[in-house]
Amino acid sequence: MTTPSQTSPFHPSTLSTKVALVTGGGSGIGLEITRQLGLHGAAVVISGRRDHVLQAACDALSPQMTISYVTGDVRKYEDCQRMVSEALKRYGRLDIVVNCAAGNFLALAEQLSSNGFKTVMEIDTLGTFNVSRASVDALKKHRGSSIVNISATLHYGATWYQAHASAAKAAIDSLTRTLALEWGAHGIRVNGIAPGPIQGTAGLKKLAGGDGSGTSLEDMIKEKIPIGRAGTAWDIAMAVVYLCSSAGGFMTGHTMVVDGGEWMWRPPVVGREAVLRVSKAVEGASRNVIGESRTQQTTVRVATSKL
Ligand code: NAP
Ligand code: COA
Repeated sequence: MTTPSQTSPFHPSTLSTKVALVTGGGSGIGLEITRQLGLHGAAVVISGRRDHVLQAACDALSPQMTISYVTGDVRKYEDCQRMVSEALKRYGRLDIVVNCAAGNFLALAEQLSSNGFKTVMEIDTLGTFNVSRASVDALKKHRGSSIVNISATLHYGATWYQAHASAAKAAIDSLTRTLALEWGAHGIRVNGIAPGPIQGTAGLKKLAGGDGSGTSLEDMIKEKIPIGRAGTAWDIAMAVVYLCSSAGGFMTGHTMVVDGGEWMWRPPVVGREAVLRVSKAVEGASRNVIGESRTQQTTVRVATSKL
């Protein structure tokens, strides 16, 4: 199966005049979200803890778009206020917030320390609340504002060795719905995106298991995705552009799964090539059984009527 065209179907002016803040915008999925927001007309402020990562992202993207960065930790409310202030100071407004910053690692629950659990809850869930809360007054000023929370499908069912991140993302989905309910009246839509495995990202390398070497791991993942390929950061970025555009204007409180069907995958009960043969055989056998039992009933009834 081929990967889709990486050419956006949206008009380059889809988000013109908009200003966006993307947490975790310096790497991985957040970097591509930043790029696509910019290519569709938005000015973007990115944030994260590592200065050199943010600087490199700005250097790479600034020829194509309007971009700046601010360092900060989403666990600290005052840092989140600085992120919002940077957008207002540089570009005069804020219309879009993408909460993409997160932390994760594999750990057996019985080996995970209390601080390990707390750390991921604080980056993912508290961080999403902090940034949203720090942004709300700025977002309120214009109709058509939008928050997008990057979630996951870990908590649909259960996921091995990710008690911390599964709980954190479940809480984010809850927050998405509550904030959508409360902030709809301010003209702010709040949605989420739950990506599946996205090739070439830190998330996939850290969490998909295997020996962390990459390629064979990605091939193994592809086998378990009905669409037949791993996701790309572009797939997620296009969903963000849609949700933040007027095309998504009646969407709020919803977390869109963008995973090629991965979360609902389970092994087939019988191989595709054997379905017809096995099903006909079972059907035929079941009719014989029904036929036999009908004959037995008739015999019993005849026998009874003779008494
Ligand atoms: P990534 O490149 O490691 O992105 C995480 C970003 O968050 C980094 O830029 C990191 O920058 C920033 N960050 C982490 N802790 C922070 C903190 N305390 N304060 C501020 N920024 C912080 O990983 P990714 O794989 O692209 O993941 C991006 C998002 O997609 C995450 O929300 C993840 O849960 C979600 N997701 C990914 C996948 C996947 O397959 N990759 C699947 C499902 C969901 P600094 O370290 O410099 O702070
Ligand atoms: N297994 C078990 N516990 C771990 C761990 C691992 N692989 N990595 C960290 N921890 C624990 C630490 O031991 C510590 O707990 P302790 O004090 O009881 O020992 C706790 O988690 C905090 O670790 P620390 O390194 O101080 O946190 P940090 O704030 O510097 O980093 C992380 C946060 C651990 C989430 C780090 O992986 C990170 O910054 N991730 C961002 C990028 C990322 O994870 N991207 C993937 C997609 S989300």
